[in-house]
Amino acid sequence: QEVQVEIIPVAGRIGAEVRGIRLTEDLPAEAVDTIQEALLAHKVLFFRGQGHLDDAGQEAFAKRLGELYAHPTVPVKAGTSSVLELDSEHGGRANSWHTDVTFVEAYPKASVLRGIVIPPAGGDTVWANTAAAYNDLTPELQELANNLRAIHTNAYDYAATVRKEVSAEDLRRHRAVFASTVYETEHPVVRVHPETGERHLLLGHFVKRIVGLKTPDSDRIISILQEHVTRLENTVRWRWSAGDVVIWDNRATQHYAVNDYGQQHRVVRRVTIAGEVPVGVDG
Ligand code: SIN
Repeated sequence: QEVQVEIIPVAGRIGAEVRGIRLTEDLPAEAVDTIQEALLAHKVLFFRGQGHLDDAGQEAFAKRLGELYAHPTVPVKAGTSSVLELDSEHGGRANSWHTDVTFVEAYPKASVLRGIVIPPAGGDTVWANTAAAYNDLTPELQELANNLRAIHTNAYDYAATVRKEVSAEDLRRHRAVFASTVYETEHPVVRVHPETGERHLLLGHFVKRIVGLKTPDSDRIISILQEHVTRLENTVRWRWSAGDVVIWDNRATQHYAVNDYGQQHRVVRRVTIAGEVPVGVDG
């Protein structure tokens, strides 16, 4: 009996739950196409009940979406080619707004995140629609943003939020690994999506400064634009269960892992898909 695929929006401007697809390496091509199309439309897709996947299965499925991209500084999980493990007991609390790995030129186009250990309450993740944020700007602010470029780096104040759940030693080690090679990369502040043509604000935690501006002006402009990204109207929040898989378009979103679960354990594993060098409004 054929299973009906359902795509159910979760919030008004971003995010949909996909039902009726079991994520596997040998997914039919039409199902992969459905996922790709839904990803462009909704920017984040949520799949419940994918507990059959192990690390190898996650990688094999993710390869159906494109070439895998291993994190440039953080070692992959042993026995895998590209799985990044984020374990709350080892500093893995991504509680700042960011787009994955924007400090390299061709940063990943998509991420596939699997819930492994999920606290009974807390530990949700929030995604924001960066095209909606751009569209919310007045034409005058859009014009300003269109002409800006920003430097992204992995050395800049990573893990700035003081986290009392993580020991100073763990934090130091985490930062040392994360910035073991320092990248500084310039990107347009407005990225034109290579598939949809939509314009997106390309900012987030790795942004160090706007090119050509003094620090106070740069900080103020980044804040004004970033506040549009994180407006609640532009976000969707996901309450994880172990075995959930979330796929996001990393060219169209920022995300934030809510660090509200104290000493409870949380583990998620991420695979990213290789992307393109971002192009601004002038090509
Ligand atoms: C990430 O930043 O890719 C991980 C998000 C999460 O831990 O929910």
